[in-house]
Amino acid sequence: MSITIKDEAGIAGMREACRLASEVLDAITPHIKPGITTLEIDRLGAEAMAAQGTRSATIGYQPPGYPPYPGHLCTSVNHVVCHGIPADKPLKKGDIVNVDVTVITPDGWYGDNSRMFEIGEVSIAARRLCALTFDAMWLGIEQVRPGARLGDVGHAIQKFVEGHGLSVVREFCGHGIGQRFHEEPQVLHYGRPGTGEALVPGMTFTIEPMVNIGRRDIKEMNDGWTIVTRDRSLSAQWEHTVLVTPTGYEVLTLSAGSPAVPGFVKGAAPVPA
Ligand code: MF3
Ligand code: CO
Ligand code: CO
Repeated sequence: MSITIKDEAGIAGMREACRLASEVLDAITPHIKPGITTLEIDRLGAEAMAAQGTRSATIGYQPPGYPPYPGHLCTSVNHVVCHGIPADKPLKKGDIVNVDVTVITPDGWYGDNSRMFEIGEVSIAARRLCALTFDAMWLGIEQVRPGARLGDVGHAIQKFVEGHGLSVVREFCGHGIGQRFHEEPQVLHYGRPGTGEALVPGMTFTIEPMVNIGRRDIKEMNDGWTIVTRDRSLSAQWEHTVLVTPTGYEVLTLSAGSPAVPGFVKGAAPVPA
């Protein structure tokens, strides 16, 4: 299966799915405080999706070689890189957690996004990691325009991250998305400028860098899903779904509660209503 180009109807479907995915994060945000468990976050996410009339893309998701994923969303705490399974364990002051939400609309369109949350006051190192990973995602997004290459996106992220003494996880990447969860192309968060697929208006894909304070190496836990840093250093991730437009990009996973766009961003990111 090759890269899908969305027509006007497809773009409308993606805009709606992505806005709703972002609004699920908005709905759970006020509840993410010390003492909440990641299973309670999962429950809140499931309720928000039900209220919207969307459903979770992750629950029961089972790529070849994996067990069915058990959560309505992913919660990745501290040294968990991604795919953390919601559990009956309270978050405590000083933790950082990524919440990753993917919804499916009744029309079958997928919207995928994640944000970091700081629980109470966190260490300076943890705050810096979350902030730099957010900027790295946006630096990648800023590369998106027709004719740019995916290697330009990966390179912008890698150069910035490694320039700050942090590392980029290589085993997981962004992905095309549409009426399926994971489509072509693979969007690597490292690479060389001028290499890789050339971008074309109507492509929709995620940019979702995973950044570690320590080494980039990871390992998988015995549950078949949870990915952790091998050196147990902290890891952060942010994710948006973007559309390639005739003049640049549109970030589709924005809503009223999205964190402010960084000051360096000049591109065609619409201000959410
Ligand atoms: N939402 C994740 C992504 O960004 C994928 C999660 S798959 C799951 O691609 F099964 F772990 F939920
Ligand atoms: Co994704
Ligand atoms: Co995601």
